[in-house]
Amino acid sequence: MLRTFLRWVFTLGLLCHFFSCQPKKKQVVGLISEQAMVVTAREEASKIGLDILKKGGNAFDAMMATEMALAVAFPFAGNLGGGGFMVYRLADGSTGCLDYREKAPMAAHRDMFLDEDGEVIPNLSTSGALASGVPGTVAGIFEAHRKFGTLSVASILEPVIALAEQGVVVTQKQAERLERNREAFIEVNGINTFFARVFEEKDTIRYPVLANTLRRLVAEGKDGFYRGETAQILVDHMQHIGGIITMEDLAGYEAVWRKPITFQYKELTITSMPPPSSGGITLAQIMGLIEPFEPGTLGHNTAPYIQLLTEAERRAYADRNYYLGDPDFTEIPTEAMLDKDYLTDRMADFTFEKATPSEAVSKGELLFAESEETTHYSIKDQFGNAIAVTTTLNGAYGSKIYIDELGFFMNNEMDDFSAKTGVPNMFGLTGAEANSIAPQKRMLSAMTPTLVEKNGKLWMIVGTPGGSTIITSVLQTILNVYEFGMGMQEAVNAPRFHHQWLPDWVTFEPSGFSPETLDQLREKSYFINENTTPIIGKVDAILVLEDGRLEGGADPRGDDTALGF
Ligand code: GLY
Repeated sequence: MLRTFLRWVFTLGLLCHFFSCQPKKKQVVGLISEQAMVVTAREEASKIGLDILKKGGNAFDAMMATEMALAVAFPFAGNLGGGGFMVYRLADGSTGCLDYREKAPMAAHRDMFLDEDGEVIPNLSTSGALASGVPGTVAGIFEAHRKFGTLSVASILEPVIALAEQGVVVTQKQAERLERNREAFIEVNGINTFFARVFEEKDTIRYPVLANTLRRLVAEGKDGFYRGETAQILVDHMQHIGGIITMEDLAGYEAVWRKPITFQYKELTITSMPPPSSGGITLAQIMGLIEPFEPGTLGHNTAPYIQLLTEAERRAYADRNYYLGDPDFTEIPTEAMLDKDYLTDRMADFTFEKATPSEAVSKGELLFAESEETTHYSIKDQFGNAIAVTTTLNGAYGSKIYIDELGFFMNNEMDDFSAKTGVPNMFGLTGAEANSIAPQKRMLSAMTPTLVEKNGKLWMIVGTPGGSTIITSVLQTILNVYEFGMGMQEAVNAPRFHHQWLPDWVTFEPSGFSPETLDQLREKSYFINENTTPIIGKVDAILVLEDGRLEGGADPRGDDTALGF
């Protein structure tokens, strides 16, 4: 079957050549810089990160500054009350990654979101005090800095504290997001909470309380969050509203260095996050599944291309949901999942004639929740180091719990656990035993901070928010550049689609996909999600061009900005 298909692809390739359906000429070019670049969800954070590089700091110094600047300028997802992952590649080519994912509190237990009949209690894992895991972000930035940083914490955080004091100008998109969530802020935190106020576009929001919380990090380091005053306020607040995080939970939190997932796609070497994120393994599976079918010959976003990716995604997400969880608690069959023969077998029943129903891959019923939480930033420094960092509160503004005495939101990451086998979470993802809740366990993530080498040299730094759509957005961005010859900005801008096994439908961004393409897919029994056409991901990426210069890709779907020198 594969041989027939490849013959067909070859013929199509020739036709394309003669009728010049070659990859489009580059139309959009992102910021070009010579040596260094920072791309984030907000200009203020990109500027603070870049300024750290300009004063001689490296990517890891810039990480601490950028991550905290996002907590100030982009409280939607930037955070102190959440967690994240960082993948790095040093100038000498060595790679590694840091896991600062939230953990279940010690008092958490397997059935904490179930009622006495064993049914999931609606919303308990997404809103309210039980939804929060023990935050990891501050531990993450301090651990990265301890190992690789060169500047003092005081000099790194000083501009962030100044930003919090001087304030951040509200963008149109931010004003809309704040307005959309204002009722929920009041419901969760009371009418006197900071974000009960109406903030309009061009208003300046000052964060003096958060500035004080940041000063405690300068004075006491990681302990300025996990012990002492900040910890006590956090624990008192969470326990007052029915939470279970304790001082012991905070004091015991450690970020963990892990061995990244590294795999080959043609001449690319791709390095991404291992469990407890599913990002690296699932991306590796999808790319391994599609590689033999030469996706670049199918035409960008054509029906056959969408079919190929969808079928690979269907199979990879089915594996993800069953096998993956926290590696400190669950045996992960990484090698077996990435075995070439296994991947070939997985596609044995794939045909371009007709969709494989997800039921034939496995079973389930669920809903798809539109979401655009989380945030990603990419940094390349002037010394040759590169980092890809994705950090999150999970939902928009996390659990919506805002600790007014500290100036930040708490996550609702407990929803990323599987509350009950087969019952979907807010992203419509089902899970199994591997991702069940246990004290001090990390919940499975889809975050996919990724570094790509071409012929042994750094080539791309990429990642995105978007819950379950993160993996497929990173995939399409890499393929857009590698298989379709787009530049970085053009690849980021290109319309995206998403499939995740269950629900058994394909979601498309509004515009960018012709009615004819969608009709062709319908004819082959693909279900098109007509109800939601959300934006899918907000990719922030950097491409190293052939001449060594950098091209930024800052996603226009948000307020994202690339800055460089
Ligand atoms: N909270 C989204 C993720 O970690 O995948």
